[in-house]
Amino acid sequence: MIGEKTTSEKLVLFENVQFIYELALAQFELISLGVGFEITNGLREFNVFGDLDLKKLKKRLAYFKIVGSEYTDYYFILRKNRTNSVNQYLTHWIYPYKGKFHPQMIRALLNIIKLESGDTVLDPFIGSGTTALEAQLLGINCIGIDISPLCVLQSKVKTESIYVLNEICEYKEKIDSSLFFSADEKKLERIISNIENEKVRNFYTIAKLVAISDNIRRKKKFQDAFLKNFNLMLLSVKDYVELVNELNLDLGHVDIRSGDARNLPLSDESIDGVITSPPYSIALDYVKNDEHALKALGYDLRNIREEFIGVRGKGRNRIELYNEDMEQVIREIYRVLKRGKYAVIIIGNATYQGKEIKTTEFIINYATQIGFKLVRNINKIIFGLYNVMQRENILIFKKE
Ligand SMILES: C[S@@+](CC[C@H](N)C(=O)[O-])C[C@H]1O[C@@H](n2cnc3c(N)ncnc32)[C@H](O)[C@@H]1O
Repeated sequence: MIGEKTTSEKLVLFENVQFIYELALAQFELISLGVGFEITNGLREFNVFGDLDLKKLKKRLAYFKIVGSEYTDYYFILRKNRTNSVNQYLTHWIYPYKGKFHPQMIRALLNIIKLESGDTVLDPFIGSGTTALEAQLLGINCIGIDISPLCVLQSKVKTESIYVLNEICEYKEKIDSSLFFSADEKKLERIISNIENEKVRNFYTIAKLVAISDNIRRKKKFQDAFLKNFNLMLLSVKDYVELVNELNLDLGHVDIRSGDARNLPLSDESIDGVITSPPYSIALDYVKNDEHALKALGYDLRNIREEFIGVRGKGRNRIELYNEDMEQVIREIYRVLKRGKYAVIIIGNATYQGKEIKTTEFIINYATQIGFKLVRNINKIIFGLYNVMQRENILIFKKE
């Protein structure tokens, strides 16, 4: 019976656990939660033993579907999904951002670095907000920082809209909805700019940006795309509110800020853990990739470029600038992290003119040089689109 202490029990993995790195993370989750185990049934089940807190295991675990005779919280979370992709549940799917983390991995890492509810995790490259939403679900506070206004906006919408669900619905009722859903981009912009509540305005703005993206990338009619996305976003936010009540979740506090990872607006030794993924050297031009959305938000792309790591500079010089920038970021992460705590950096090597840039090695060398200890280096090999192998590393550092 969940809630009672016991000394042995059976855990069952989710069917979607398929890669070796996921099995490794599942085991590290148990180790961090102080559980002894042996693996049985062709790697699908674990017998766990020790002084077990089954209630906590059920609440926290990421890779397990069943604890004893009951489903884990994560089983119910995964079911709140309005998309065809298993990891795009709740509000994760909102906005088609390239290079998102796998949310299940982040939930496991939050366990592995032993963060408890009330602790604060920092992601200085918050991107599409994955770390923020996963921390929020576990009752862990999160500070998310990104240089991109689009990332700041989408991360806020994914984690803050639940607090203004009624206002979002009321605003939809208040205005003439036929006018609203038939408006072109410009008219819609005028309607949205009149919304006073910032969280409500952010929600409508992102719905508009998703529609712009669908219109440009998928050639969908703007009004149709807006109507479809708006309604789906609303359903996902409702799902989230329902889930909080069903599982009686005590959500973490999320603070999303616009800022530069090279110069963190945080005091020394104020953070309990870091989980982040910086740009992979010069692999992706984040400014070009989000050009339409950034322009629609009114930004001058030339000014913005100068602040983006991995984007600034030209030719070979871009790699040198990237390395300098990343040294500064690692020093900042070290400075703000409390002693005895962990920083997880997920990183992969990019290629430039046919040659591999050894970013992973560079990060390990620099981090250890300034005092971090590399406690785990997990190879994350996955097969992406068209079975192309992608290799990344999950580096877990400790500030001793
Ligand atoms: C690999 S992505 C992070 C993706 C994220 N883990 C997710 O799940 O969506 C890297 C991010 O770094 C951001 N970035 C680039 N330069 C930055 C800087 N100087 N300070 C903060 N963020 C920056 C980019 O905007 C991009 O969102």
